[in-house]
Amino acid sequence: MSKFVITGGAKLSGEIEVRGTKNFALKIIPASLLSKEKMIVSNMPEIEDTKRSLELLSSLGSKISKDSDKYIIDNSEVKETTLSSDIAKKFRASVMFVAPLLARFGEVKFPHPGGCVIGAGSRPIDLFLEGYQALGAKVSHKDGHYIIKADKLKGCEYFFTTVSVTATESLLMAASLASGTTVLKNCAMEPEIEELAVYLNRNGAKIEGAGTPIIKIEGVKEIGAGDIEIMPDRIETGTFAIMAAATNSELLIKNCRPENVQILLEIFKKIGINFEAGEFSILIKKTEKFTSYNIKTHEYPGFPTDLQSPYTMLMTQAHGSALIHETIYDRRLLFSDLLAQMGANIIMCDPHRIVVNGPTKLQGKELTSPDLRAGITMILAGLIAEGKTTIDNIYQIDRGYEQIDSRLRSIGAKIERVTD
Ligand code: UD1
Repeated sequence: MSKFVITGGAKLSGEIEVRGTKNFALKIIPASLLSKEKMIVSNMPEIEDTKRSLELLSSLGSKISKDSDKYIIDNSEVKETTLSSDIAKKFRASVMFVAPLLARFGEVKFPHPGGCVIGAGSRPIDLFLEGYQALGAKVSHKDGHYIIKADKLKGCEYFFTTVSVTATESLLMAASLASGTTVLKNCAMEPEIEELAVYLNRNGAKIEGAGTPIIKIEGVKEIGAGDIEIMPDRIETGTFAIMAAATNSELLIKNCRPENVQILLEIFKKIGINFEAGEFSILIKKTEKFTSYNIKTHEYPGFPTDLQSPYTMLMTQAHGSALIHETIYDRRLLFSDLLAQMGANIIMCDPHRIVVNGPTKLQGKELTSPDLRAGITMILAGLIAEGKTTIDNIYQIDRGYEQIDSRLRSIGAKIERVTD
């Protein structure tokens, strides 16, 4: 078992590069199954979740090779349509394999996907199942597995009663190989969805409106494949920006798309955090004092739920009171108890709302990372705390942040990976 040991108080400086985004890599890997042609992926984040995803793809018969930093994925020989329970149960995004397998082979068998425990119980997949049924598929459940079959998916109109990123992406992929036209309404608008549509269109799909609430898909007989560079991770971008601000450091964040974290930068302007945004970089400047600001998590372009926990930590250092309202996931504010154990002044109003009163000094603690985003927040808290912070269960952090310890060390953080 490995842990992170952080000694707080170090000033950060220099530059840090944002890596490719997990939330696009985890879609493009399964999207490769839509085609018999080779996909060549660059800027793949080397994280536990992409390793699991490639492992799952390879267990289906895909040939995956590496040429320096590029992954070459060849699915011409894939015939298997049952997802390995052992692998699929380890990560939520295994659910992204269902649509391409169903669309290309007409059937798929899979267990309920695993992953971060941040929703009520296990995270639901009702929208996916309903959407496949709307496309004409038959869904059954036997021996702990879902079985979905359709000789040929047929275009349909489907309205998402809850906005869901992965369900939008799944139906978009399934409809791309269906016969006729599909119109999806109340879609998620995350930039990763648009990026997926751009890639698929470049290779023969006919998708209009991705990145808006209404997406129209004209089914095609075949989809090709080609080169794809994974876009920079906007959550990592926002996390590094918050880290620099919280530690009162000057830090250049490189290889990012500032427009994808616009809401955070607009808030920075309001609360007095100094920065300069370029086309592909953000320079966070030293800021001695900044004020609190309320947030409510929302689908893109609103405040991302994945930045809620780092932002909550930032508010422990702000002057004033901030109401944090988490609207997407039921259990995502529970981590705030760990910040309270470190000395933060946090009042839980109800499971979806907390008030953070700042500024407060934080003290180093022994903590266990409850999930991916709370885990990175514990690292950020450790960087500003007095003394040592030890974080257990760091697999949860390695799932989504590539070599976070060595990258943070390179900008002056005192963080060590210690293996028992
Ligand atoms: C994606 C992101 C995750 C981010 C989340 C919200 C990936 C791999 N993960 O997760 O980092 O936190 O978007 O921005 O892209 N829901 C249902 N039924 C369903 C599916 C979802 O009720 O069938 C609900 C969920 O419980 C949740 C809400 O919809 O309350 C949003 O979840 P969703 O957008 O699906 O999250 P993910 O796509 O899993």
